Amino acid sequence: RESEQQFGDLFEGSPDAILVEDLEGNVLDVNPAGCLLHGLARESIVGKNFLELFPPDKRDAAKILFAKLSSEEISRAESERWTADGKVTPVEIRAGRIPYRGRPAVLLHVRDVSNQKRLEEQFRQAQKMEAIGQLAGGVAHDFNNLLTVIHGHASLLLLDARNQDSADSSQQIVEAVNRAAALTKQLLAFSRRQVLDTRRLDMNEVVSHMGAMLGRLLGEDVALRVRYWQSPAPVQADRGMMEQILLNLAVNARDAMLKGGQLNIQIGAVDVDQKYLERQPQARIGRFVLLSVGDTGTGIPPEVLPRIFEPFFTTKEVGKGTGLGLATVYGIVKQHHGWIEIETETGRGTTFKVYLPSLEDVACELAAKTVEPVVSGGNECILIVEDEKPVRELVSTLLRRRGYRVLEAESGQKALGVWNENKGQIDLVLTDMVMPDRMTGWELAEKLQAERPGLKVIFTSGYSAEVVGREFVLQVGVNYLPKPYHPHTLARAIRERLDSKESH
Ligand SMILES: Nc1ncnc2c1ncn2[C@@H]1O[C@H](COP(=O)(O)OP(=O)(O)O)[C@@H](O)[C@H]1O
Ligand SMILES: [Mg+2]
Repeated sequence: RESEQQFGDLFEGSPDAILVEDLEGNVLDVNPAGCLLHGLARESIVGKNFLELFPPDKRDAAKILFAKLSSEEISRAESERWTADGKVTPVEIRAGRIPYRGRPAVLLHVRDVSNQKRLEEQFRQAQKMEAIGQLAGGVAHDFNNLLTVIHGHASLLLLDARNQDSADSSQQIVEAVNRAAALTKQLLAFSRRQVLDTRRLDMNEVVSHMGAMLGRLLGEDVALRVRYWQSPAPVQADRGMMEQILLNLAVNARDAMLKGGQLNIQIGAVDVDQKYLERQPQARIGRFVLLSVGDTGTGIPPEVLPRIFEPFFTTKEVGKGTGLGLATVYGIVKQHHGWIEIETETGRGTTFKVYLPSLEDVACELAAKTVEPVVSGGNECILIVEDEKPVRELVSTLLRRRGYRVLEAESGQKALGVWNENKGQIDLVLTDMVMPDRMTGWELAEKLQAERPGLKVIFTSGYSAEVVGREFVLQVGVNYLPKPYHPHTLARAIRERLDSKESH
């Protein structure tokens, strides 16, 4: 009796759904958790054949599964159950034979695994995005290097153009490279390799700043409604990137509302707790600023939803979409240690919710997390010795833009003259190796360093170092720059040379 009582308690109190069925699958008993899972009262389940608990199209499969479970061919299976609200829930079933009231029966434990499945799916999704991000970042990085070489040379051609036609062609190349660079920049944003310039920003202010622009962008058929947060919504973020997020989401919303509608932008603050984390594993505990951008457009179909953040994924016609909008948003949000949630319903609209750490929670770590260091300039004085005028002018412009004072000479002899006039001021000499006037870069350097030991020199050459190398130790990127060099490489070499203790 006591054990019967105990069994009864376990049966009633179990968090798993438990059903007892005869060998034909007629339900003999069900516990409260089983009623809850099916959304049916006990009376509506007991006496029914289990097949009635399945959607018609799932019944054949369920029949086969039940046969295997009831014959103990298998003891565990994954399946789906039909719940009362019409939803199909993934479940795990464990089953075994027991005697029930003197007759053979099957005991089934049914567990709702939708939560676990969702987490697995999110995990897979995150891994996929990570892999695509790595790939995109790698491609963009290599591509950028190629583009800078193309850009550098096109600029040189432009400076050296012999006639209007070649000037125009060079100009076209430069412009195409700039467009290509804009594309790779988006890929870099996606793969979180952009340099951040973060400040303390109030999200209210960022949005209000963009208001007029968004209005124009949306056109007349879309109403814009903005709801600000009643107090400041502080984030440590890159302003340009925040504007980019807003812009990309607004453009997508507009495209989803071709017949007009309403765009709702809302700023808020949320406290993420443990409970929230269970539902949204990418979230973190703490206070977050919420930027929500909602439209009343087409919604995103379930089969499209898992792919929208992939770079180059678009459902738009060729020429209409690049598929980089959301990829960029994704990368920016990740790089700012936030996450994105989406609510969407076909035919009713979509809301993107962007969560970013509220400033109270952010230590200064963000500011330090720039991936590629920005090469800084300086105000030192640099003597450029180079016989090719366009190259000299290009280099001079590049260095002036970075704040350096620049002196120029077109040969070694001229350089000696410039040196004598500006003796005390020159901090570094950047010299070509092979020049006219019977003085090489080496000889020039030797003469100047005899006058001022420790003077810093960087050699450049279109020839390979072995041809000219002698007693100086040449180190690429340190005191030697093979041509063509990237403006960035030049800037870095100069800065590092100026900052280094030793000299040649
Ligand atoms: N607000 C939205 N409503 C409906 N679908 C959207 C929305 N935002 C994005 N999408 C879907 O996500 C896809 C990818 O968006 P995105 O990365 O911005 O690329 P693009 O806009 O160039 O297609 C879109 O092609 C569209 O199918
Ligand atoms: Mg877009």
